[in-house]
Amino acid sequence: MGKLDGKVAIITGSTSGMGRDTAYLFAKEGAKVVVTGRNEERAKAAVDKIKADGGEAIYVIADTSDLDSPQKIFDATMEAYGTVDILFNNAGMISMKPITELSVEEFVQVMNVNLTSAFILTKLCAPVMKEKGEGHIINTSSVAGCSAHWGPIAYCTSKHAMNGLTKAMALELGPEIHVNGIQPGAIMTAMFDEAGGPVVDFMTSRSPLGRVGQGSEIATVALFLATSDSSFVDGQLLRVDGGVDC
Ligand SMILES: NC(=O)c1ccc[n+]([C@@H]2O[C@H](COP(=O)([O-])OP(=O)(O)OC[C@H]3O[C@@H](n4cnc5c(N)ncnc54)[C@H](OP(=O)(O)O)[C@@H]3O)[C@@H](O)[C@H]2O)c1
Repeated sequence: MGKLDGKVAIITGSTSGMGRDTAYLFAKEGAKVVVTGRNEERAKAAVDKIKADGGEAIYVIADTSDLDSPQKIFDATMEAYGTVDILFNNAGMISMKPITELSVEEFVQVMNVNLTSAFILTKLCAPVMKEKGEGHIINTSSVAGCSAHWGPIAYCTSKHAMNGLTKAMALELGPEIHVNGIQPGAIMTAMFDEAGGPVVDFMTSRSPLGRVGQGSEIATVALFLATSDSSFVDGQLLRVDGGVDC
């Protein structure tokens, strides 16, 4: 018996990285998974793998910089499975431009992908979870949501805001819905590659574990937050960062 048998989980940003690892783990634990992202080839490959491993999933192609896309994801979920139990707001993008080089358009794009789409998708899913009397929402923040780092000013702003959104959502949506966030440190994914080698070296040198993390090490924490194993955890931002102090 799986920990998520009978549950329906929407995972945004699950065509790669930690979202995809979480999709695989949730499906292995019995959830019906909604995989989302922009890249159809990777979305289809993730769903094919889940099905080949005996799980159940669909994919929805959606660009979350477009604020109509959360409705598309929600509608496809309801059409396929008729309900939603778990929402993992995980899609994210980074811009490494400092404030003097960052356009307003790019700032807004980062905010829409990392924050506003999560707000909209939560608005859509929360009434369903409230009605069921139970739900779990998990938001991906970052260690860049705890302190500022030179360069990714829009990213840093969006992740600080994600912390506030998480705490405010927990306050408003309880007691039926648990809302928590994860603040990953350096996790070896495509996004981390994009941030560049010096960031890898810096984060590795600051970690007592002396290494960066894997997406699967975020997936196990997401599973904890998606089940009654975390029944008295609410409104929290869990750092999963190998112990870095930045
Ligand atoms: N890796 C790290 O070290 C690290 C550290 C702290 C926080 N995080 C956070 O972790 C989350 C997942 O990132 P990751 O590290 O797993 O990187 P990743 O492998 O690059 O995954 C990012 C995911 O977000 C999706 N995405 C990006 N832009 C999108 C858009 N406009 N519309 C819809 N989906 C979009 C991507 O899908 P498509 O490409 O198919 O669109 C992909 O599935 C992000 O929120 C990120 O900020 C990562």
